[in-house]
Amino acid sequence: MPEIEHKPVLLAETIEMLAIRAGGIYVDCTLGAGGHAQEILRRTGPRGRLIGIDKDRSALDRARKALAVYLDQVAFVAGDFRNLQAILTGLGIYQVDGILFDLGVSAFQILEPRRGFSYAYDAPLDMRMDQGAKLTAFDLVNNLDEKELAALIFRYGEEKWARRIASLIVARRRKSPITTTGQLVEVIKAAIPAPARRKGPHPAKRTFQALRIAVNDELSGLAQGLRAGISFLGSGARVVVISFHSLEDRIVKNIFRDFASPCICDVQLNCTCGRGSLRILTRKPLTPAARELKLNPRARSAKLRAAEKIVPAANVLPTK
Ligand SMILES: C[S@@+](CC[C@H](N)C(=O)[O-])C[C@H]1O[C@@H](n2cnc3c(N)ncnc32)[C@H](O)[C@@H]1O
Repeated sequence: MPEIEHKPVLLAETIEMLAIRAGGIYVDCTLGAGGHAQEILRRTGPRGRLIGIDKDRSALDRARKALAVYLDQVAFVAGDFRNLQAILTGLGIYQVDGILFDLGVSAFQILEPRRGFSYAYDAPLDMRMDQGAKLTAFDLVNNLDEKELAALIFRYGEEKWARRIASLIVARRRKSPITTTGQLVEVIKAAIPAPARRKGPHPAKRTFQALRIAVNDELSGLAQGLRAGISFLGSGARVVVISFHSLEDRIVKNIFRDFASPCICDVQLNCTCGRGSLRILTRKPLTPAARELKLNPRARSAKLRAAEKIVPAANVLPTK
């Protein structure tokens, strides 16, 4: 396996936006190798607490090592952040000081060939973040019908050659199932005309992104987890989201906007719609500086959005 060095993306910007409070409770919804978590814990001091969630158990093992000096301050949770509400209430937590989502897969997952996330290695078609989950990329590639495949590749990969790719996948799998990333890359290359293949990123990038999103049901999980997370923020607490493609970024932008827009419900007092409860801190998303990109080209598509919880006007009881 290649030597892997982990570099947390937009680390300084994340820490600044979270405005860490000493002794605070923080949630890292995507613990990964614990890079961001380490810096959060350094700033909370010994009374701080971190809930670190990851659906990949091997990531949790790695994070346990990285956070060895903080073990009594961390709750490691093997789970999906879409279940954030149940995870936090299950731990007896009803309010937190900050929440981080650093979306997608980590370098460790991408560069571990057998996980099947990368078009750069020939490996089984897997792509599951949670290795105990049932659905794999193999199932989608070999079982969806041609229309479903084309729609999936177009929607989650924003791939304009989706129909051709789906058609060739179906033709190829009639001979025998497509079992490896290498076989899939060959089919994708054959489907995309040579001039288009020579421009832009690797020809398989968009299709692989689409399959990964579908295998892990990433987009609906993000919307659910982010909405739940915002509802747990105490007044002045912050949420930071780092996304890696436009589909994720759009969800974050829209949810932030929704919570930041004024409440127009009829129920004025103690309304629970959540509108008017966020102040957006990043009018435009923050992106990595040239210095970071030089050290970590993988960060190139990262976008960071942050917001702060404010007490919504409708929820403030009138003073006598
Ligand atoms: C980009 S990495 C995070 C890296 C981390 N911030 C660090 O500094 O080491 C994303 C991690 O989130 C996990 N993940 C992605 N979606 C998830 C979800 N819905 N629920 C729980 N974990 C998730 C992945 O398994 C991966 O380990």
